[in-house]
Amino acid sequence: MSATPRTKAAPVPTLGIPTPPPLPEDVEALLRRLRLPHVRRHAPEVVATAKAQRWEPVEVLRALFTEESAGRERSALATRRATAGFPTGKTFQAWSPEASSIPAPTQQALRTLEWVHRRENLVVCGPSGTGKTFLLEALGQHAVEQGLRVAWFTLEDLGVLLRRHRADDTVTKAIARVLRADLVVVDDIGLLPVSQDAAEGLYRLVDAAYEKRSVAISSNLHPAAFDELMPKTLATATVDRLLHHAHIAQTSGKSVRLSQALAGDGVTPLGGTR
Ligand SMILES: Nc1ncnc2c1ncn2[C@@H]1O[C@H](COP(=O)(O)OP(=O)(O)O)[C@@H](O)[C@H]1O
Ligand SMILES: [Mg+2]
Repeated sequence: MSATPRTKAAPVPTLGIPTPPPLPEDVEALLRRLRLPHVRRHAPEVVATAKAQRWEPVEVLRALFTEESAGRERSALATRRATAGFPTGKTFQAWSPEASSIPAPTQQALRTLEWVHRRENLVVCGPSGTGKTFLLEALGQHAVEQGLRVAWFTLEDLGVLLRRHRADDTVTKAIARVLRADLVVVDDIGLLPVSQDAAEGLYRLVDAAYEKRSVAISSNLHPAAFDELMPKTLATATVDRLLHHAHIAQTSGKSVRLSQALAGDGVTPLGGTR
């Protein structure tokens, strides 16, 4: 009779078979041609175990396809993460909700990502060091883990994108490619002088994403003051579209960076323990 159905994908028990015999060459070749890398990797073990434990044939199929499915999900996640281009790799695992000045219910609501599914925008604004970038990155990482696509930009990146594509008139196409992502983040608006290209890039992005995709931005200024950063007509048109369906999360207080630095938590002590 069959072994009890396995609920977890790995590891396959090998019953003391040290190295299971390799697959016949023609089977290997077929699995390569059909692009089933995870089946190919696990099949020798699964086949050996199935033989030793007299599995029902359907158990073999289940074990192999479970491996393929899990393996594909893992690599799709890795690809989504790499494509997003996150700045640091930090996630909610390192986030302390109580260190943020954003009310806990707001943090909780943002973490559900329902706003992304509703194609609403998010504006995080407040002084430097209050966790704006961290929040956007943690939300972005969470979105990627949930199967969503994210694209991370700084305002400067948008300027570069625009310059590169203006030469051959492919800006619209380039923006459309960016908007394959479900959530587009533009981090750090307002810290550096905004170039004409970057301002135009932001406008083009926000305009093309309007009611189609979520845009999340961080800034040390409230968007109502963006006309201090860029030409007034461009700022008005951008902010109008950005804020129509937007959640505003205001961060305040002292810089978490500065508090950590002053507490001596910003560095590992040199030469010994504290
Ligand atoms: N809620 C939080 N939990 C843990 N660390 C935080 C939190 N908010 C900010 N930090 C830390 O403070 C520093 C500054 O945060 P950052 O997101 O770069 O701020 P901002 O983008 O507002 O300038 C980072 O090292 C970040 O990890
Ligand atoms: Mg920042």
